[in-house]
Amino acid sequence: MGLFSNSTALNSFDDLMVEQLQDLYDAEQRLVKALPKMAAAAHNNSLKAAFQDHLRQTEGHVSRLEQVFKALGKQAQAKTCVAMKGLVEEGEEAISAKGDPNVKDAALIAAAQRVEHYEIAGYGTARTFAQRLGRTDAARLLQQTLDEEAATDKKLTTLAEQSINPKAAATR
Ligand SMILES: [Fe+2]
Repeated sequence: MGLFSNSTALNSFDDLMVEQLQDLYDAEQRLVKALPKMAAAAHNNSLKAAFQDHLRQTEGHVSRLEQVFKALGKQAQAKTCVAMKGLVEEGEEAISAKGDPNVKDAALIAAAQRVEHYEIAGYGTARTFAQRLGRTDAARLLQQTLDEEAATDKKLTTLAEQSINPKAAATR
């Protein structure tokens, strides 16, 4: 998340909360670009639909973060999220991999769940910071996105366990 990169000044807890939000804002925008490729690469129709649904949700997360910045009286600004850059690159490895379509689907889920867990950590932290700073509007908005990320993660687990992994395991 580039927490200590170059010129970031962390003079207050408020600065840190804003820095976390800028990181998430960049991460979500990267994901908006990556998800259509994940959806196109998915072989299983339910997985394809899950990625498409999450794309729409992610677009909503970008605008919700804009609402958060607004609630805090700050300009919406993105700060390169190095971690999401790397996670997306790993997703691209799964996208371009050759081989069995079901195994590739399992690889796409593996990449997507890493993304969800990263976001869950980021939103959980930002929400907790906002609560501590008495920014209840911002905290409420962040909690909404956090809940959606957690639901997506759960959905991917169910898909993996119930349909994708059994098919992928048939290649053994
Ligand atoms: Fe998101």
